[in-house]
Amino acid sequence: MTPDSSPSSDVPDRQWWKEAIVYQVYPRSFNDSDGDGVGDIPGITAKAEYFDSLGVDVVWLCPVYESPQADNGYDVSDYRSIAAEFGTIEDWEHLLAELHDRDIRLLMDLVVNHTSDEHEWFEKSRRREAGYEDYYYWRDGGIGENGDPVPPNNWGSFMGGSAWTYDDEREQWYLHLFDEKQPDLNWRNPDVREEVASLVEWWLERGIDGFRVDAINYISKPEGLPDGESDREPTGIEVFSHGPRIHEYLRELYERTFANYDVMTVAEMADTTVDRAGEYLGEDGDGLNMILHFEHMDVDVSPRGRFDPSEWGEWSLVEFKEILSRWQTGLGDDWNAQYLGNHDQPRIVSRFGDDEAYRVESAKLLATFLLTTRGTPFVYQGEEIGMTNEEFERLADLDDPMTIGAVEDAAAAGRAGSFDELREFVNYVSRDHARTPMQWSDDEHAGFTTGTPWFDVNANYPEINVEAARADGDSIWHHYRRLIDLRHREDVLVYGEYELLLPEDEQLYAYTRTLGDERLLIVLNWSPEPASLDPDETDADLGLANATTLLSNYDPDATPVGRAFRPYEAVVFRL
Ligand code: NOJ
Repeated sequence: MTPDSSPSSDVPDRQWWKEAIVYQVYPRSFNDSDGDGVGDIPGITAKAEYFDSLGVDVVWLCPVYESPQADNGYDVSDYRSIAAEFGTIEDWEHLLAELHDRDIRLLMDLVVNHTSDEHEWFEKSRRREAGYEDYYYWRDGGIGENGDPVPPNNWGSFMGGSAWTYDDEREQWYLHLFDEKQPDLNWRNPDVREEVASLVEWWLERGIDGFRVDAINYISKPEGLPDGESDREPTGIEVFSHGPRIHEYLRELYERTFANYDVMTVAEMADTTVDRAGEYLGEDGDGLNMILHFEHMDVDVSPRGRFDPSEWGEWSLVEFKEILSRWQTGLGDDWNAQYLGNHDQPRIVSRFGDDEAYRVESAKLLATFLLTTRGTPFVYQGEEIGMTNEEFERLADLDDPMTIGAVEDAAAAGRAGSFDELREFVNYVSRDHARTPMQWSDDEHAGFTTGTPWFDVNANYPEINVEAARADGDSIWHHYRRLIDLRHREDVLVYGEYELLLPEDEQLYAYTRTLGDERLLIVLNWSPEPASLDPDETDADLGLANATTLLSNYDPDATPVGRAFRPYEAVVFRL
């Protein structure tokens, strides 16, 4: 993968997926080839050169399977076909070939905590067809004090409301931790586990290079489905997350499928600590390669849950460093994923940078952080040009069922009478920010489609777009490209040990990466005010006398250590 780098003998366990940089594509919003306003697979294939020029090694494709699109594809109705609006299986094969021709690998999304309610398994299950009765969680409910039917337990859904919906045909309630159109599969049923293994194998046999595994910490529910008792949201999360048989299920899936292929697996796991992560990772765990944890995503939201509108928006760099550093150093020989944003999160420059006065500088700082820390970096589409949050004025402007559910829940709980009272909160947390179409050029609809886009393009596209960014050697895009090149060249950025300096500093995020004799110092002034790094205040013996600059987000004359770093200045030094 890095033929021009001099392989270091200090690298303990070299793996292509540790050295890779992943680029995440949200197909609906990436590039529309046929003018229907919805991004599609031929549109992605048309951008193969784009991935190559940026230098990424893996493309992660969010779900493109057949789906009624209640949650933009995370509700799969047929795991072995492609949604018509995204193309055909031949289109998908062509995409795979075009990526592989450029040595770019393809990661698919595996969504098997739940299916769509339009999947034939659910249709058969709701009819109690022999063999399918227990594919999902069906339960009788009770009768409340006022005589109304009540669900089998008090669990809440991530999309708002109860996690149970009554089905008139089966005359029972079914469980859905997400939308009511996303019923949870019953992994206790061995036939379900067999179906999952067989569909995983079906895709692996088609030559893909791995899976991002959706919401996988929720697949094992404890016997009796007991009520939740904490005040965390959604209610019951402490009961249904990391359930009692989860390791058995994942290990079984691993041995049956992933273990037999040279692929990467990255598991999405909210509600997961460093200590727990080790149980899932590596050969001595469940065989997973890395985890997308959420601890840093929770730094600016309520401890009760992201959609609790009583607390949000404030975050401290000191706490952020503490969380990230725990993940950087606490995994022993295990590996991890590193990300700042994705299709479920606001835009990173609006959230962790300054999308006004220092949009370019702060977006480059965030890129520097992402690409110089330990763990496989995941870049989300649009991040590389500094795309920003949108401003949603009305509930009708939103698309995401999770955000809409949160607004409805807040109204039901009497926390807000109207959308206006929640507008700022929604504009802070909404998943919709990440889903506005990719901004390719200053053509109409940002060059995303020749039709009417399914979701409004951010009005700043005439200024922020790929064409402009590629034409400007100083752009955020070129900074990503340089960082990607640097990471490909420098084993120390991939495999080096991470050490945090100045943990209590409220402006500077500074750390070293060390591999054998190689040592880099990264200084990020994560603030709009100047900040100085006093080497005497660090515990480390940095040997700064011979420090040289490898990369800076300001002019080529980066600030030397000891002088004040400029707002959002980010420098990589070789020591
Ligand atoms: C996580 C996915 O990233 C998100 O978009 C989806 O809504 C849920 N899992 C449910 O599949």
